[in-house]
Amino acid sequence: MSTMHAVRGHRRGGPEQLTYESAPRPVAGAGEVLVTVRSASITSGELGWDATWTDRFDGSGSPRTPVIPSKEVSGVVARLGTGVTEWAPGDEVYGLIPFTRDGAAAEFTAVPAAVLAAKPLQLDHDRAAALPLAGLTAWQGLVRHGGLHPGSRVLVHGGAGGVGSVAVQVAVALGASVTATAAAGAADFVRELGADQVVDYRAERFEEHVKDVDLVLDTVGGDTQDRSWQVLRPGGVLVSIVAPPDPSKQGGVFFVVEPDRAGLEELARLVAEGKLNPRVDRVVPLAEAPGAYAALEEGHRLGKIVLRVS
Ligand SMILES: NC(=O)c1ccc[n+]([C@@H]2O[C@H](COP(=O)([O-])OP(=O)(O)OC[C@H]3O[C@@H](n4cnc5c(N)ncnc54)[C@H](OP(=O)(O)O)[C@@H]3O)[C@@H](O)[C@H]2O)c1
Repeated sequence: MSTMHAVRGHRRGGPEQLTYESAPRPVAGAGEVLVTVRSASITSGELGWDATWTDRFDGSGSPRTPVIPSKEVSGVVARLGTGVTEWAPGDEVYGLIPFTRDGAAAEFTAVPAAVLAAKPLQLDHDRAAALPLAGLTAWQGLVRHGGLHPGSRVLVHGGAGGVGSVAVQVAVALGASVTATAAAGAADFVRELGADQVVDYRAERFEEHVKDVDLVLDTVGGDTQDRSWQVLRPGGVLVSIVAPPDPSKQGGVFFVVEPDRAGLEELARLVAEGKLNPRVDRVVPLAEAPGAYAALEEGHRLGKIVLRVS
């Protein structure tokens, strides 16, 4: 059996459950591609998701332990499973790995061919790995669920975060005007992403600075989500990626991002046009992934944390 280096969790839990170790090298099944991982990226909350540890979204399925985390991959096609015709060994690809499968914190990952897209030429693997989950969440939240169009007025909560930093750029690229909430220390960063207005969420109440927005993208939840209703125009949409909005209100949407090649291609087009530049807070070696997951909980990052694999 071939082996590889990987980060795995043998028991459900937080970063303390992750170990850098030797693991079986996956094999590409029918319709799958074996990818040599160059870089992977990690997401706040990922180790708390049921789908990270079981084979069902709601946690009711069977445990998959030991599991390999990290759902965002950028790498090179190594081998093709039967029936795969759209990729060839050596192709540079990136993608969002389905949540109930092993992820990219490893030297190799086997993924459905359909979830991959060509890596944007303008990005190195580190920055390409920062895009699939955050970028598709922003794209699907703003466009598919939020109905964003040129001229929309958008409020992005958490504008310096993994999802928020892409969402600000995508909304601006699609012709929206954007207000974002962020910590004071991140205000310049978020303005540089294209936000017209940045509200310091610790010192100010955003509802005193913005009103009549067409779309709120909520990456924070809780009280922030509750207070967002009052800034929506009648008929506006509140899209949350954190928690289902109050069902008694009109216009609330919660969704979970889905792998989506067409969406990755749209993001790559924005990158090629110079309208989207995924932001990487730091790059750490694969072996230091447990510490990187712990750092996610500390906050105050500007963009994503990336694992450099090979
Ligand atoms: N449903 C889905 O499909 C989906 C997809 C991706 C992510 N998610 C979830 O969405 C959440 C965000 O993900 P992410 O990767 O963007 O996380 P992240 O990188 O940690 O970003 C969160 C951002 O929110 C900011 N923030 C914290 N409290 C805030 C507040 N009260 N008001 C405004 N901003 C605030 C943080 O700022 P400071 O750090 O400076 O405090 C940080 O910049 C996570 O819970 C993640 O699990 C869901």
